[in-house]
Parts: sequence; C-alpha cells; structure tokens
Amino acid sequence: MGVRSLLFCFFFLYTFFLELFVAKAGLGVNWGTRATHPLPGGIVVKLLKDNGFDKVKLFEPDPDALKALGNSGIQVMVGIPNEFLLPLSNSVQAAVDWVRQNVSTYISRYGVDIRCVAVGNEPFLKTYKGAFQQTTFPALQNIQAALIKAGLGRQVKVTVPLNADVYQTDTNLPSGGDFRSDIHSLMISIIKFLSLNACPLTINIYPFLSLYADSHFPIDYAFFSGSASPIVDGPISYTNVFEANYDTLIWALEKNGFSSIPVIIGEVGWPTDGDPNANINYARRFNQGLVDRIIQGQGSPKRANPPEIFIFGLIDEDNKSIDPGNFERHWGLFNYDGTVKYQLNMNMKGGGQGGLVPAKGVKYMARQWCVMKPEASLSDPQLGQSISYACSNADCTSLGYGSSCGRLDARSNASYAFNMYYQTANQQKGSCEFNNLAATTTRDPSQDSCKFEIMIDIGKHEAPPRRSPSPPSLSSSTKIHNNNNNIVMVILIWIAGCCWWCRWCII
Ligand SMILES: *[C@@H]1O[C@H](CO)[C@@H](O)[C@H](O)[C@H]1NC(C)=O
Ligand SMILES: *[C@@H]1O[C@H](CO)[C@@H](O)[C@H](O)[C@H]1NC(C)=O
Ligand SMILES: *[C@@H]1O[C@H](CO)[C@@H](O)[C@H](O)[C@H]1NC(C)=O
Repeated sequence: MGVRSLLFCFFFLYTFFLELFVAKAGLGVNWGTRATHPLPGGIVVKLLKDNGFDKVKLFEPDPDALKALGNSGIQVMVGIPNEFLLPLSNSVQAAVDWVRQNVSTYISRYGVDIRCVAVGNEPFLKTYKGAFQQTTFPALQNIQAALIKAGLGRQVKVTVPLNADVYQTDTNLPSGGDFRSDIHSLMISIIKFLSLNACPLTINIYPFLSLYADSHFPIDYAFFSGSASPIVDGPISYTNVFEANYDTLIWALEKNGFSSIPVIIGEVGWPTDGDPNANINYARRFNQGLVDRIIQGQGSPKRANPPEIFIFGLIDEDNKSIDPGNFERHWGLFNYDGTVKYQLNMNMKGGGQGGLVPAKGVKYMARQWCVMKPEASLSDPQLGQSISYACSNADCTSLGYGSSCGRLDARSNASYAFNMYYQTANQQKGSCEFNNLAATTTRDPSQDSCKFEIMIDIGKHEAPPRRSPSPPSLSSSTKIHNNNNNIVMVILIWIAGCCWWCRWCII
C-alpha cells in the first residue's frame, strides 16, 4: 500500500493543523466603555477587524458592544463588575439569570462568540482592603454552575482577572514568588477550581505602574529592548520587568502544584497622557515590544508556551475614575474618536507593513471651540471657580504636570477647561458662559502637543437607518456553532480528500 500517499495524507493534515495553530496566536485587546461619548459599537468592531484584533475583553456586558460583536468572528471575554459579586455569590438563581441575560442571549440571538466570563475585576486589589474577598469565589462557582446549566459549560470558560499584586516575592527575584499571605488559601482554592474546570487564570501586569510607583525604577527595565542591566535569578537573566513579574507568578503556581494551568494576561499596556512617564514615545516603545512578542508567540524564561494577551486598551475613556492617577483616561491605542495616536507595526505573518488603521465613519460636532474671552481678566474672582466647575464635569487630565497640555499659560489653561466642558456638554447652548468669561470661536486653539478636542456627535450616530426587527430565532443552536461548523467542514473536506487520494493510490 502506498506509503507515499500516507505520507501525503499526513502532510496535508499536518499543514492544516499548523494553520489552525498559527491562526490561534491572535491579538487581544480590552474594550472599555467608560466614555462620555462612546463610539458606536459597529464602528469599534470595524476598527477591531481592520487592525487584526480577533479577541476582545469587555468589562461589562455592554449591550451595544455585544450586539455589534455578533457574527464578527471576534472572540469575546465578558466581565462582571465587582459590585455584582455580592448578589451573585448569594444565589445560584441570580447567576442563572445573569448568564441568561448577559451570555446565552447574545450567543443564541446575536451570534456573539463568547468564550469566557471574567468574574469580577481585580477583586483582591490591596486598595480594596478585602471588600470582595468573601464574595468572589462563591460568585465564580455560581456562574460556572449557571453556565453548565445553560449548556455552555464547554464553550464558555470562567476566570477571575487579578492584579499582579496577588503574588509577591520576598527575595526580589522571580524564584521567590508566592501568593500574598492574606489571600494565600483563597488563591489556592480558586486556582484549584479553575484547574478542575479547565479554565485559565487571568493576571494583569503593568510595568508602567512599577515606574509610576517608584521614581528610582530603572527605566529601561520597564521596556522590552533588553538594554537594562539584568536581574540574575539562578540560570536566568531578566532584562524586563514584564517577564520577571510573569515568571514570579509561574514560580508561585509551580510551588503550589499548578505548574501547567494556562495563564491569560488580562491587561497590559502603556498610557499616553496624564503623567510625565505617560507619553507617546514610551507608549509606542512598550506596545511595539509587546505586539512583537505576541506575533512571535514568545513565552518567558520559565514558561516557553506564550500566554494569551489582551492589550489595555483600545480607546481612551474620558469618564473613568482617576483615583489611580490622571493617566487612567489615556490607555488607548486610539484616541476617544478612534484616530491613531501613534503608529505600531501590527504585521501579523511577515510581509507587508501593517500599521494601525483609524476608525471609519466617525461623525463630529461643529468645528467650534469654547475659549476664555480676550477681554476677560485673569484676576476675575470667578475664574478659579469656573475652571473647577468645568474640570469636575469634564476631563482635564491633560492639564497636569508633564501632560500634553501641562505647559499652557494661564489663559489657555482656562480655555482648555472651558472647551472640554463645552464639548462634553455637546456644545449645548449655555455651556460656554462661565460667568461671562467664555465665548465660542471657530479658530482651533490647539497648540503643539495640546489638542483642543471636538467631541463625537452622539446624536448623529444614534439615528441609524431603522432596521426591521430580527425574526424570532429558530435556529439558535446552529448559529452558536457557526464558526466551529466551518472548521469541522474544512477538516471533513481534507480527510475526504486524503481518503480519496489514498484509495486512488491503492487501486
Ligand atoms: C460619568 O460617570 C459617572 C459615574 O462614574 C456617571 O454618574 C456620569 O453619568 C457619567 N457621565 C457621562 C456623561 O457619561
Ligand atoms: C446583566 O448585566 C448588566 C450589566 O452589568 C446588569 O445590569 C444586569 O443586572 C445583568 N442581568 C442580570 C439578570 O443579572
Ligand atoms: C491649569 O488648570 C489646572 C486645573 O484647574 C490647574 O491644576 C493648573 O494649576 C492650571 N495651570 C495654570 C498654569 O494655570
């Protein structure tokens, strides 16, 4: 019988599965929706696809985002905000309802490829002082039970995105890694549970925050260029904090008997504004290094198998809490309106320079700004209070020291604040008064790095052509497996082809 044909058959299958494997090493990104003027879901999904992202993580089951992701081919991790952990920990029924409304419906009615539910968001963060320590694990168990009940136990995995502060090292070396002592047994219980259910552990790692927290942090060590003086840990030399931090986790896992649990990096990235170290150059340097690692499928010294990575984040969010710092609203690869902040080479498989592509079809409000009147006086007693009012209702985080608008003179500074308020208020009548200190202008007041923005016109986006209501879904189960079906079809065709080839040889 034809050994050669068997070899051919083997070769075909081999190349086919290799293709599958290569295609799997995809690009993931976090899509946060805490913006005063969020881009419409449809525009964002197009932005994701145009830029080669095939996985996205949402912090909550945002209906507009999820509907737009339907039948997009993009895999989705959907998050449960921390405030839901308590009710979900108390009752399986609450979890069943949550899964029905926020997972099953989107899979069956809209064809969303939900792969994972992220239960809570960094619930054991030290600054929360234990607020979610009692509720996270029971909520995780209830959501897992609810997924199984909904028949989604295999398709949709659960995880808990944790901040890297859940582990530490006493020796300053990765090999000293172990889980924080106040949550050690809780971590072991959760990891055991994830492991039993074939679920990944999710960790957020932020080299930017290492630099932000410590002014003596060696700057090169925050990036991937390998120029930092290495930290030597036994046979391994670390030249960047990302790998050292990640391997601290791998050591902690190994020490506690979980050396093979899959790990997802749920968030990693670099902000572009709101702090002297949050700037375009550093963000480009860090994120290019990160994207290169993802594309090359690079692992770490302790674990060669690369983790799945979700970059943080996709778009700036001007309504995020700035408790962590002013930079918090500037993590996007893209500006609030989907324009490109800086170029990155997203080249997926060699050949061609794949740069970032901006969002398409974005509608803006009129080209007009709100500025301080030329005749208004800097010594006007109402000025300070007017600026504070503007900045407590709109995003002034670019005005801080070392930020993109940090070098404006006092007059332009006031104008910036007034304009942000005016734009955030959709250029409404009466939103450019400020005790008669402000007036509108059609001359762009932007200077150097400081951009005076014009907001997206949500109204224009909100009136899309009416679509007829979708017919009741009879074929939900066939829709769910759309993507899988395609793969199965291709495999069948290949096998059929192989068999036909082999028989032909034998005859
Ligand atoms: C911004 O967020 C706060 C709470 O976080 C919310 O009350 C407010 O409505 C949001 N503003 C806009 C314009 O979305
Ligand atoms: C689904 O998620 C949304 C957003 O987090 C939440 O408000 C809602 O209560 C959830 N549905 C159920 C049934 O729990
Ligand atoms: C500009 O405004 C911000 C926000 O109110 C303030 O913190 C800063 O000191 C101001 N800078 C100047 C130069 O007036």
